Amino acid sequence: MTQPVRPFHWEFTPEPIEREVFRIEGGVPLRGTVAVSGAKNAALKLMAAATLTGERCRFDNVPEIEDVRVMAGTLRDLGVVVDHAGPNRYEVASGDVEWLFVPLEAAARMRASFILLGPLLARFGRVIISNPGGDRIGRRPVNLHVDAMRALGAEIEYRNGYYFARAPGRLRGGDVVFPAVTVMGTENAMLGAVLADGHTTIRPAAREPEVDDLIDFLRKMGAQVERTAPDIIEVEGVRRLRGADHRLIPDRIEAGTFAVAAAVTGGGVRLEGAPCENLGAFLEVLTAIGVDVACGRDTIEVRGAPPASGAYRACDVATAPYPGLATDLQAPTVVLLTQAAGESRVHETIFEDRLEYTSELARMGARIELLDSTHCRIHGPTPLRGAELEVGDLRAGASLILAALAADGRSTIRGAHHVHRGYENIERKFLELGARIERVAEEVAAQAT
Ligand code: EPZ
Repeated sequence: MTQPVRPFHWEFTPEPIEREVFRIEGGVPLRGTVAVSGAKNAALKLMAAATLTGERCRFDNVPEIEDVRVMAGTLRDLGVVVDHAGPNRYEVASGDVEWLFVPLEAAARMRASFILLGPLLARFGRVIISNPGGDRIGRRPVNLHVDAMRALGAEIEYRNGYYFARAPGRLRGGDVVFPAVTVMGTENAMLGAVLADGHTTIRPAAREPEVDDLIDFLRKMGAQVERTAPDIIEVEGVRRLRGADHRLIPDRIEAGTFAVAAAVTGGGVRLEGAPCENLGAFLEVLTAIGVDVACGRDTIEVRGAPPASGAYRACDVATAPYPGLATDLQAPTVVLLTQAAGESRVHETIFEDRLEYTSELARMGARIELLDSTHCRIHGPTPLRGAELEVGDLRAGASLILAALAADGRSTIRGAHHVHRGYENIERKFLELGARIERVAEEVAAQAT
């Protein structure tokens, strides 16, 4: 018996839904206050860093997202004790790790599982870890991570999709020189170096705020690690590290995403617990486009102009390693530029295939020309209209929600599970801002169309 076609009801659906979709009715200016959650790309590395000691580590302001749950499961499979000690609180104790094997299942679900290479090698001297492989935004190789471990004295062989790594005795300090900036490569090198024997220099070291949050935590554990120049990190290895407590920094990508939500719907939103100091380049882009942005100590007030009103100015933007425009905010910026008057050009410099989602925006009426896999041209302002959409990855998914909120009419977005990987309670946060959004099972959405 088919379920009755349920009318839209803009209420939060707490239970998990298999093969879920977002249903959105756009056109509502978002208004109100939203609290920014802890940073996903800090949480995953901090949890991995906790394996550097047998003592208990406590983390606060951890986002309740799928990737954190996957990392917790991966650690538990190693024999690490991971307690979900309360909302946004995790405790990790890596007393006796039974297995030193990170399987393909973990790597396939989350590339960041590769951040376990450095700490497990440093503490236990050996690990077998799956090559995480590429995903929808590019090939995502890990050669620079492997080179960094070898610079610290590790022996690593690659066989049948797995890296077999060992450190005869202890890792030893050394010079890690990357050909280009790599965020997790920097973090893996650091996590290997803090227990190595001797001095390590890492350059060019990534400058992302999440890297500095990791440095803060490692120092609380007793590590001797310091950023001695904007793109140089130096480490003096120690024999042991102790447990520590840490509160995560806020998620700058989530904050930027909600800022664009206010801008593209012509609303007024106040972000609380917002990391203004970590959003410099992005806030400059919003201001150049003509979005009214005001920063407080840890708040950002965003006032938007009505969609397609022509109030926004076209801009040329290019992503870059921090402190440049974050590649994870490239898609939200493109959505905003569809509402800007004139021609904008966007250059994605970090990943080789991170503009694929623009075809979904084109189906909503956006005038976007893909010049090649890293360049696109946008003409605006263009009124967007609701459509049936498909999400490929985390950040593109969040951006299609932004477009659907700004669009006239109804949208259905398949692949909502990607979004839950990295945005805590995203539909509840949007509902509280007045958005007409709900999560339904795919078959329910299919009936309604
Ligand atoms: C981190 O990925 C983030 N992920 C990404 O966020 C973010 O987009 C990226 O940094 C860039 O800022 C986490 O922190 C978990 P990279 P990471 O090494 O470290 C190439 C999100 O949605 N490269 O800085 O994997 C690579 O292919 C994610 O939260 C190699 O060639 O990125 C890319 O072109 C998406 N060999 C460039 O370097 C390597 O060994 C920069 O990648 C490593 C990277």
